[in-house]
Amino acid sequence: MDIRQQRKLDHIRQALALDDGPALNGFTDVRLIHDALPAVDFRSIDLSVPWGGKRLAMPLLINAITGGTSLVTEINRRLARLAARNGVAVAVGSQAAALRDPRLRDSYRVMRDENPDGVVLANVNPNTPAEKALEAVNMLEADGLQVHLNPAQELAMAEGDRDFRHWTGNIAELARHCPVPLIVKEVGAGISLETARRLLDLGVRHIDVGGAGGTNFVAIELRRQGQCLPAFEAWGIPTAVSLAETVWAVHRGLPAGEKACIIASGGIRDGWDGAKALAMGASLVGIAGAPLKGLLGAGSGAFSVAGNGEGDNAAQGWIDRFRHALRLSLALTGCCRIDDLQNRPCLLTGDLRERLDLRGIA
Ligand code: FNR
Repeated sequence: MDIRQQRKLDHIRQALALDDGPALNGFTDVRLIHDALPAVDFRSIDLSVPWGGKRLAMPLLINAITGGTSLVTEINRRLARLAARNGVAVAVGSQAAALRDPRLRDSYRVMRDENPDGVVLANVNPNTPAEKALEAVNMLEADGLQVHLNPAQELAMAEGDRDFRHWTGNIAELARHCPVPLIVKEVGAGISLETARRLLDLGVRHIDVGGAGGTNFVAIELRRQGQCLPAFEAWGIPTAVSLAETVWAVHRGLPAGEKACIIASGGIRDGWDGAKALAMGASLVGIAGAPLKGLLGAGSGAFSVAGNGEGDNAAQGWIDRFRHALRLSLALTGCCRIDDLQNRPCLLTGDLRERLDLRGIA
């Protein structure tokens, strides 16, 4: 096995072994407002949302995790089945490996084969030229293309990138040529107000804030090297803060008549966090560590997915609880549909409020 394939397995092992954080996702500072007189029939609440010409049964994305070695094909198969069964979107992990070596395509392609009608997203790094990105999209007949921004992870990785100057130009190129929605995502350190503005200027209209508070890639990379650097591991913008800043940038910076889609991800713990994110202005909620830990078991040093029905049930249980909490949140805020919730006020308090005040965000 080459070093890149080894790294993919290390990422999964470390993600299972580590707890979320140390940063908090910030959603305890967000309050939805109770409606004691809801004009709602709980049983007919509609969680479905449109996405790119298709319809999702609820606004949830199983975010990019893996691919690139036959050892993870089974993980992607099970994640894709989970997505298909629940009518939610799913993304493959970085396709760099398959763009280098076509023999590795099956480990990604399985996500489309198992989920032929669903929303499946391709995933590349910001060094990928436009024609290669198109190849990644075609490989999956993808409904969208994610480009991940991960400078903190690269710097924590002994073998990581060190020069990020060309990322901006490359993203502008991808935004011009990508035939499907281009989603720029962070992987756990968040998108700031300024970064969101720059992405909008580059023509990006889909932003996944990928904030701090969940899977911590700096810690994952440091543990692979037997290191622990608490200050570095605490780096990043909590998801709720990043979401508020990105929503602000979109409201202030988008030309009239244009629309943007914001995805809230990074340490989303449950449907209550999800509902808060939607009320703050997100269109979708992304989760990665939670379904992975369900499928493979948190804390396991070695993992096995073959015939792991228990893992399937645990991941399904997480999604069932997410859906139920989301429904409860809608009912108790007097909402029948997701877009009602997106138009409900919510209170931003505590540290989150303080940080937004310091940034001049009303
Ligand atoms: C990831 N993530 C990720 N993101 C990406 O864009 N490309 C990738 O290849 C990977 N690989 C990957 C591996 C593993 C094991 C995990 C757990 C995650 C990041 C992921 O999509 C997401 O942005 C972060 O994990 C934050 O979300 P959670 O995990 O806090 O819900």
